[in-house]
Amino acid sequence: MNILLLGSGGREHALAWKIAQSEKCEKLFIAPGNAGTASVGENVDIKADDFESLKKFTVDNNIDMIVVGPEDPLVKGVYDDFRDDERTKHIPVIGPSKAGAVLEGSKDFAKRFMKRHNIPTAKYETFDGTTLEEGLKFLETLKAPYVLKADGLCAGKGVLILPTLEEAKKELREMLGGMFGNASARVVIEEFLSGIECSVFVLTDGKNYQILPEAKDYKRIGEHDTGLNTGGMGSVSPVPFADEAWMKKVDERIIRPTVDGLANDGIDYKGFIFFGLINVDGEPMVIEYNCRMGDPETESVMLRLKSDIVDLFEGVATASLDKCTVEFDERAVVCVMLVSGGYPEAYKKGYVINGIENVADSVVFHSGTALKDGNVVTNGGRVIAVSSYGKDKAEALNKSFDAAQKIEFTDKYFRRDIGQDL
Ligand code: AMP
Ligand code: GLY
Repeated sequence: MNILLLGSGGREHALAWKIAQSEKCEKLFIAPGNAGTASVGENVDIKADDFESLKKFTVDNNIDMIVVGPEDPLVKGVYDDFRDDERTKHIPVIGPSKAGAVLEGSKDFAKRFMKRHNIPTAKYETFDGTTLEEGLKFLETLKAPYVLKADGLCAGKGVLILPTLEEAKKELREMLGGMFGNASARVVIEEFLSGIECSVFVLTDGKNYQILPEAKDYKRIGEHDTGLNTGGMGSVSPVPFADEAWMKKVDERIIRPTVDGLANDGIDYKGFIFFGLINVDGEPMVIEYNCRMGDPETESVMLRLKSDIVDLFEGVATASLDKCTVEFDERAVVCVMLVSGGYPEAYKKGYVINGIENVADSVVFHSGTALKDGNVVTNGGRVIAVSSYGKDKAEALNKSFDAAQKIEFTDKYFRRDIGQDL
């Protein structure tokens, strides 16, 4: 099979690494890819949301399957665009339709979906510019801290957690006043849930599904979860509290009702569902849905997935995922993200990265890198993810930590405590 993967981050390098291991994959292309994906497939210089060029490339290169990494092309309707074109309608796109991607694209839609299908989540109300006064009153009925969420996509910045009622009211006014542009024209206000988070990943063909290894990511820049939020500073899999009993609750109360709910609502969904869960006194609740894999969770999850991922994608494409099996590697995996100094605020790009070839006992995934004059250089805030197996988390973290020290670039920073809180 010839496979075209869309995206350019660490998640896509990890997916590409896994896809390339399949005997079923003859040629793997990544559009646009990064310096790392170029080592497991062939990069194609087309943006992941340039559907016209992607379709032309697909036809010209006999592509048999498209796998979508990031949310952006999904929310823009890449699935529908390929399906509705005579030239490409027979080619499966692994990723939901535009209607399905709204689960991630609109927080209000996701909350209404959960309410309609009795899926456990925080209590909420949604407000817009015409109902600001009601929103301010609703805040008064809640206890601190206050959770405000812009309805639309904000590159991970649209959720504010405010310690006082005064700040919450001020931020609500600003959000509805256009703080995140159109994305915050509507704001979801919800009850604060206290617990440890866990990301659960599912592949579905719209009816059947398979649960992949779970993971926990670390969002804050500083050790012990301090400082600003980032795209993710590392991840660990497995998550100890996500044992068989807890996952049974997740499956019965959350996954099955979500997949059935999508089908009953007539939403075409063939791809990954990312359940952002929180463990509240032993009970799983949904914080958010995403219509794709997590980053940097994928950089752990792919190491723990023993099964052939292309087999699973074929199961999705032919609606026969119930015939597939998913085997997990029993070992622990810890992924540590190396980032540019200054991130998530201002940082510089273009520093040469040395020492990747000295890493022997870990898997190195490129996140924000580029090739320049024969060198691999930094090209983003999150630069490189190093993932390692261990008999336990501590051993896996130590190996990733060793690898993180061997890789060198100016102003490199990483957290040394990934997985240690669990
Ligand atoms: P989201 O974009 O919905 O995943 O929210 C970003 C982050 O905000 C989550 O990963 C949580 O850490 C936090 N968060 C969101 N909603 C809540 C909530 N209702 N209670 C507590 N924390 C939350
Ligand atoms: N790691 C969280 C996300 O990918 O959204």
